[in-house]
Amino acid sequence: MSVSQGAGVEVRNVTKSFGVDGARVTVLDDVSLTIGMGEFVSVIGPSGCGKSTLLKVVAGLIDADSGSVTIDGESVSAASRDKKIGLVPQSPALLPWKTVRENVELPVRVNRGANSGRTLRDAGELLSTFGLGHALKKYPGQLSGGMQQRAAIARAFVFDPAIMLMDEPFSALDEMNRDLQRIALLDFWQSNRKAVMFVTHSVPEAIMLSDRIVVMAAHPGRIAEVIDVNLPRPRTEDVYATDEFRDLEGVVRSALRAQTEKAHV
Ligand SMILES: Nc1ncnc2c1ncn2[C@@H]1O[C@H](COP(=O)(O)OP(=O)(O)OP(=O)(O)O)[C@@H](O)[C@H]1O
Ligand SMILES: [Mg+2]
Repeated sequence: MSVSQGAGVEVRNVTKSFGVDGARVTVLDDVSLTIGMGEFVSVIGPSGCGKSTLLKVVAGLIDADSGSVTIDGESVSAASRDKKIGLVPQSPALLPWKTVRENVELPVRVNRGANSGRTLRDAGELLSTFGLGHALKKYPGQLSGGMQQRAAIARAFVFDPAIMLMDEPFSALDEMNRDLQRIALLDFWQSNRKAVMFVTHSVPEAIMLSDRIVVMAAHPGRIAEVIDVNLPRPRTEDVYATDEFRDLEGVVRSALRAQTEKAHV
């Protein structure tokens, strides 16, 4: 596989706790994870196990209590300043008074000074890639939840970041559109290899997209298991019907079930 060398994301011994009702609750406990440049890694685990928290620590939105994160060999703040990190948050956070196209172009406009010499992607092309070519002039309030999520994906790619962090980006899509968007994302990633950290609750989605699947445990949030997905690329929807896919589905589902049952005890 043509994954280029070097760590895109390097998470080392990250611990994070929050104060809740006067007590400290450990949400991430000694989490270490490396995502190679050009590698696609999914994170799956019971609700509340700390997936979004981990993603936010990697994005630099919240600070870890201890441990370290490096992005393409730099600190998170340097990588963020250099626009190396693309983030698709769990909710799309589009500005309602701007059109879809303006929302996607916004990061470029507000960072005009930092853009010299950078590759910028065309907002219209990105929106077409993710099935919104017809909606450039619409406002977020005129879009469905799934369309807003796709606009947020296009926005995250506009700086052509080296690292893409995606938090359940397809959760509001119906099943058919979800299938289409997985393929669109895979096609796009295939020709624009980035280190991707992709949070999902869908086992087939994690298998379809990933090189590796990280299964998290809850209370405290930690990595329970890492499962390699050695299915050949490029992948198409035909992969769902293969024995290898079904075998992997069994493995991932039982790992997830074990963690979900423990989380409810
Ligand atoms: N700012 C915060 N203050 C206090 N507790 C928080 C904060 N952010 C998250 N938590 C808690 O940390 C835990 C992990 O939350 P997180 O959002 O990371 O879970 P998740 O795995 O993404 O869940 P889901 O699958 O439902 O999105 C939860 O118990 C949540 O209540
Ligand atoms: Mg979450």
